[in-house]
Amino acid sequence: MKTILVTGGAGYIGSHTCVELLNENYNVIVVDNLCNSCEESLKRVERITGKNIKFYKIDCCKKRLLEKVFVENKIDAIIHFAGLKAVGESVKMPLEYYQNNLISTLNIIDLMRKHDVKSLVFSSSATVYGDPKSVPIYEDFDLKVTNPYGRTKLMLEDVLRDFANVNKDFNIALLRYFNPIGAHPSGLIGEDPNGIPNNLMPYITQVAIGKREFLGIFGNDYNTPDGTGVRDYVHVCDLARGHVLALKKLFTNSGLVTYNLGTGKGSSVLDVLKGMEKACGFEIKYKILERRPGDIAQCYASCDKAYKELGFKAQYSLEDMCRDSWNWQKNNPNGYKTKNKILVK
Ligand code: NAD
Ligand code: UFG
Repeated sequence: MKTILVTGGAGYIGSHTCVELLNENYNVIVVDNLCNSCEESLKRVERITGKNIKFYKIDCCKKRLLEKVFVENKIDAIIHFAGLKAVGESVKMPLEYYQNNLISTLNIIDLMRKHDVKSLVFSSSATVYGDPKSVPIYEDFDLKVTNPYGRTKLMLEDVLRDFANVNKDFNIALLRYFNPIGAHPSGLIGEDPNGIPNNLMPYITQVAIGKREFLGIFGNDYNTPDGTGVRDYVHVCDLARGHVLALKKLFTNSGLVTYNLGTGKGSSVLDVLKGMEKACGFEIKYKILERRPGDIAQCYASCDKAYKELGFKAQYSLEDMCRDSWNWQKNNPNGYKTKNKILVK
């Protein structure tokens, strides 16, 4: 049985990936400092799968503490989710973003080298494409970032490419996620943002549950079919499965590989809003506001490469994503802090 170290495993994408890994009979070790998550998510992963996770509450920037995990365990591969991810916050606190995202990843790479761990999946982002020259976006498009968060991802991609160039026995997957939404169908785990959500789906579900008055739609004058921004929303469980497929690829000694993970389809803000209204069965209030600075009109992936080389194809529709996001929100109105009555199917 292979052992996978999942950094940031208590977070949104990490917790869903832990479910997928445990269901595929991998041993899972999680390292997370819980700066944007809580241990309850891991307890729920254990409830969903009936399997155990070994958890270390450690900051990946603290190399001496992190090394303990490598000494105590024989690790076969690492999925490195740990990082700060809010674009707006990164503009206000660039140093914190550079420190956290760069140092944690450099520590991971160095410890991999020292302890002979040869496979790494790295969380990159569609943000590395900036404002693309056309859609769909292919992996070989130019890379251009516009904010410190995006810059950390691009810098780390460069670091990993340089490292892989001279360390041919290391296998590294750079996975560029598009817009993950949805939640595990059990309603036990999902996205649990702190404070006012920055992203569309958690904002809409908080309006639907009555926590916020209305959704502000950031512009309806883009050059898109209905004027609102178009993105490639991908179910977090599809994304999680993509990580397991990427791992399997790495175990064939792939060297460095890069894949978009999305659905290949664009949906507008209004499409998502309508999808959520259908899922909840009532109307959701919204107002058209000014464009949000830094937003682009449209962004969706070509996922041909991930399909050809990994066999990855998203299976959940926008309707499924809305149903599962709503299921999570209504069962956990206060996220993991909700005293919970529930639920497993
Ligand atoms: P998340 O915040 O829910 O999860 C990240 C986890 O990492 C959290 O549990 C946090 O506590 C932990 N963490 C942060 N810094 C750490 C450190 N120094 N040491 C240990 N743990 C640390 O975010 P997510 O949405 O699950 O994103 C996971 C990864 O995917 C991130 O790297 C993010 O940049 C990337 N990504 C996310 C999206 C998205 O829209 N959610 C899109 C593209 C890329
Ligand atoms: N939007 C609104 N109102 C809101 C929030 C968002 O109208 O309250 C709109 C945005 O203008 C955009 C769309 O909804 O058109 C999606 O916005 P998100 O903030 O949910 O997502 P982004 O595409 O802006 O960015 C996200 C992550 C980035 C990541 C990128 C690509 O926040 O970190 O997806 O993966 F880089």
